[in-house]
Amino acid sequence: MTDYTPTKDDKFSFGLWTVGWQGVDVFGGAVRDRVDPVETVHRLAELGAAAVTFHDDDLLPDDATRDKELTRFTEALAETGMGVEMATTNLFSHAVFKDGGLTANDRDVRRYALAKVLRNVDLAAELGAKTYVLWGGREGAESGGSKDVHAALDRYKESMDLLCGYVRDKGYDMRFALEPKPNEPRGDILLPTIGHAIAFINDLEEPDRVGLNPEVGHEEMAGLNYAQGIAQAMWHGKLFHIDLNGQHGPRFDQDLRFGAGNLRGAFWTVDVLEGPGAGPGYDGYVHFDYKPPRSEDMDGVWETARACMRNYLILREKVRAFRADAEVTEALAAARVDQLAVPTLGEGETLDALRAEAHDPEAMAKRGMHFERLDQLAMEHLLGVR
Ligand code: GCO
Ligand code: MN
Ligand code: MN
Repeated sequence: MTDYTPTKDDKFSFGLWTVGWQGVDVFGGAVRDRVDPVETVHRLAELGAAAVTFHDDDLLPDDATRDKELTRFTEALAETGMGVEMATTNLFSHAVFKDGGLTANDRDVRRYALAKVLRNVDLAAELGAKTYVLWGGREGAESGGSKDVHAALDRYKESMDLLCGYVRDKGYDMRFALEPKPNEPRGDILLPTIGHAIAFINDLEEPDRVGLNPEVGHEEMAGLNYAQGIAQAMWHGKLFHIDLNGQHGPRFDQDLRFGAGNLRGAFWTVDVLEGPGAGPGYDGYVHFDYKPPRSEDMDGVWETARACMRNYLILREKVRAFRADAEVTEALAAARVDQLAVPTLGEGETLDALRAEAHDPEAMAKRGMHFERLDQLAMEHLLGVR
């Protein structure tokens, strides 16, 4: 790898809403024009991406033009060889979703939300998407008394069980991925972290069909370590999809391009995805969910898309070099990282024997762990001096 130009084999994908973000925020209106999804497909294909993803409303905002726009879009996919790997539903923009969709107090809203998801699940299946994301941005509350959390989780589960049944009955080759986020736009969002979402999935009718789509910024907004979070999701077999972007610690959801913000976090994220430890790596699409800052015109937007992929490839090269470095191998052994893969109780050993064994905690306490040397080696790879 010399020029960090991606190919389709790298499996990079982007939401239409990312490069298409017009910059509307709470303090100001649009700074860029709407981008035609057909143009997005072509530009991303030229940059080396493999697929796009979309919310129903990104692609087909209007029923009157639905058929025409869909035809143009599928033609663009065919011309470029781009795929649709994931789709999702906009259950947050329209005023009807001011109290959420699937967990809104208003039953009519919940029924509308479910119908909106079903309609787009059909389209997703038609376009070949194998992952369907549910980000519950407005499934939450600003105040304690306004939401019966027990009932809200009952309704969330009801929706997920119905959706799983629907997909199964239709014979679609599709799995659902829940996307946790702690807050924004709601004050407090249900299923706020990877951990909350995994626990919830275990109580569903068909837990195997439901996994996660964790986003870097969302975990870091809660002060959590994304790399560790996705490592646990992988341990549970639940890392169905990822949303990579950048974030500077606990504050509003910055959605920076991947590599911006917490760069060391990005290094360890790529390391975990590569599967360096006891478990396998991640082999799904590497999906970017970010917002090109309002400061940029469209040239700047395409530059950020290129940079997301480029930063991933640069970090992947650095991670691989780190793992292949003989001094790192030695430092890992000195840090006894490999010992963690050895079961604590030996085969055939009994707990009585373990209890009776002579342990010397003082001697053990004296052994240094040598983690700093290992981390410095990682740092030097990242800084490009090794
Ligand atoms: C955000 C979210 C969204 C979702 C998307 C998919 O914080 O804005 O990450 O971008 O990922 O809506 O449902
Ligand atoms: Mn986000
Ligand atoms: Mn996201």
